[in-house]
Amino acid sequence: MTKKLFIKSYGCQMNVYDSARMAEVLMPLGYGAASSPEDADMVILNTCHIREKAAEKVYSELGRLALIKAARQAAGKAMVIGVAGCVAQAEGEEILRRAPVVDVVVGPQSYHRLPELVARVARGGGAALDTEFPPEAKFDLLPEARGPQEVSAFLSVQEGCDKFCSFCVVPYTRGAEFSRPLPALLDEAWQLVDRGAREITLLGQNVNAYHGCEKGLGGLIRSLAEIDGLERIRYTTSHPRDMDEDLIRAHGEVPTLMPYLHLPVQSGSDRVLAAMNRRHSADDYRAVVAALRAVRPDLALSGDFIVGFPGESDEDFAATMAFVAEIGYAQAYSFKYSPRPGTPAATLPDQVPEAVKAARLEALQSLLRDHQTAFNRASVGRVMPVLFERAGRHPGQLVGRSPYMQACYAEAPQAAIGEIVDLRILEAGVNSLAAERAPVTPSRSVA
Ligand code: 5AD
Ligand code: SF4
Repeated sequence: MTKKLFIKSYGCQMNVYDSARMAEVLMPLGYGAASSPEDADMVILNTCHIREKAAEKVYSELGRLALIKAARQAAGKAMVIGVAGCVAQAEGEEILRRAPVVDVVVGPQSYHRLPELVARVARGGGAALDTEFPPEAKFDLLPEARGPQEVSAFLSVQEGCDKFCSFCVVPYTRGAEFSRPLPALLDEAWQLVDRGAREITLLGQNVNAYHGCEKGLGGLIRSLAEIDGLERIRYTTSHPRDMDEDLIRAHGEVPTLMPYLHLPVQSGSDRVLAAMNRRHSADDYRAVVAALRAVRPDLALSGDFIVGFPGESDEDFAATMAFVAEIGYAQAYSFKYSPRPGTPAATLPDQVPEAVKAARLEALQSLLRDHQTAFNRASVGRVMPVLFERAGRHPGQLVGRSPYMQACYAEAPQAAIGEIVDLRILEAGVNSLAAERAPVTPSRSVA
């Protein structure tokens, strides 16, 4: 490798996956990994547009990069700066106007065209921009993964969203729903496992709307479960309306499908859900959870919540708090509503004052934290199979995940990375569990 590339990912896990694919696309051009932007011939910011704060971060980072680029240029070294991801898609040329230091702007559907864009910049043709939704399928044109593979891998199976929740930019930045065909996914999954992955998380903005095979996401999961050496399957993010019967049944029937589900509800108030154009009620969500728990009683739930959506009253917010208490989340994400340009909710009357949003968020997060702590505390004394992923903070320690996505750390040899080990949970914090290796039971030593 003759040149160095630094990619910084913001936002969702799909960006993490896409960043790895961009690195692979640029490898044939001689780009290897840089340890910092200072050290890089090319820096790509893979951006997120979901909330205003996420988008603004990009511009402050570009300000910092401009200084680094100038310092490198003074030392006779060049630097190409690229902006990828959803800010690139949403703002396009506006980025070049606001931050002239940027050389390449590339939307999420055009990563396979990166080499061409970089070559154009190198030829001195000025900044290059591609935010098309090209007719060719980018996944067919991206090269196969080759870099080192971690124990837990991401596999992008679906992209885009047709739901148009009234607050959300995703249908505009990622475009219409698209599912990758089953054979290509099985192929990629085989390769991931071959290269050392033991867990695969299937990614999609609306992953359970997957329709790349006849039986939908449940069918894909059942096919993946046949892969020898693939010990754990997860998927994210799901919409309550797309939790079909077969997918729900898979939670009871596929042992490698982990008992943890990220199923955003956004609000516990039907009035707000309707204004959000969520196309489900609180009761619809309750029914999905009941069906899931009927086949998998230990299923741990995660969610997303938005507080301060336009028109949200104290009563509506109280309904969300009551809903959280009723459902019982193992963990969840919650956000203040952030008006996004171009989305219907941004121009609704009755925008909620910032102070009210802040107070509601604090109350909700405190409740969610209590639930998360209680969920973790209930694990103390239990023995759970933990997939070790990497070294922990202290020497001799490894960190892994329980089936319920809890981070667990325990003393274990480095060689146990990639193994599923029974751990006894000793202590629980809000965000992690301290554990020790459980004695091997006679039945397991025979197995
Ligand atoms: N404001 C606040 N939160 C948002 N989300 C999506 N759009 C917005 C917005 N405009 C949240 C939703 C979604 C998660 C990924 O981000 O909860 O599920
Ligand atoms: Fe956005 Fe998810 Fe709604 Fe699609 S389903 S519009 S990605 S919040």
